[in-house]
Amino acid sequence: MEDIGVFEAIHTARALRRFKPDPVPPEIITRILQAAICAPSGGNVQDWYFVVVTDPEQRKLVGAAYAKASLSVRPFYENRQRPEHMTETAERQLKSSGFYLHEHMADAPVLLLVCGRTRGPRPDLTNLGANALTRMAVATACASIYPAVQNVILACRTLRLGTVLTTNHILCEQEIKDALGIPDDIETYALMPIGYPLGKFGPVRRKPLTEVAMHDRWGRAWPSA
Ligand SMILES: Cc1cc2nc3c(=O)[nH]c(=O)nc-3n(C[C@H](O)[C@H](O)[C@H](O)COP(=O)(O)O)c2cc1C
Repeated sequence: MEDIGVFEAIHTARALRRFKPDPVPPEIITRILQAAICAPSGGNVQDWYFVVVTDPEQRKLVGAAYAKASLSVRPFYENRQRPEHMTETAERQLKSSGFYLHEHMADAPVLLLVCGRTRGPRPDLTNLGANALTRMAVATACASIYPAVQNVILACRTLRLGTVLTTNHILCEQEIKDALGIPDDIETYALMPIGYPLGKFGPVRRKPLTEVAMHDRWGRAWPSA
């Protein structure tokens, strides 16, 4: 299997939600986890935990919680106004693929739950006001976990495995924590189905750089081609 470069992985690691039932060898999962823990975290605390669920009964429990949680967000996606940058086809595909996963999370041979301990010691910043504190707490908690998630996405792509970052399960997080015995002080940030994909990789479609990148001040577009 030829290695692909990091830019090819970045440009083609689109969300994949349909998987072959073939198991993923444990040594491949280990490589993915090794990539995950190379990520940065605030203060280098590395308070992350990765629960790899392959047992079919455990996957069913996690899948049931994901399906239940997804019921709450489904009407939003059914009725939302299509973002301008998305074509009708892209919007239809996102819904069909997303809704498929609502019912089929447990079909992926591997479910990876990326967790973090977010109640550790913190600097006393109360003098900065509640808003700044909340922003800082949320941002640093998330930013200490999601880089590891992105490493998982890129490692999967490089190893020809499909995956997608999902968060719907958080709405029924306690059911998953109970099923997997996850302690109270640990929170779950991402549920990632992983497997050999039925669909094809990339390219990902994004808004053009000219709409989102600026030079020196807000509103002055970065002069990219
Ligand atoms: C914060 C976040 C939460 C997401 N939650 C879900 C989810 O619960 N279920 C799901 O199927 N996809 C979820 N996604 C995947 C997005 O739908 C996907 O990344 C986006 O549509 C881009 O897909 P593409 O890379 O194939 O273009 C989430 C992505 C992010 C970044």
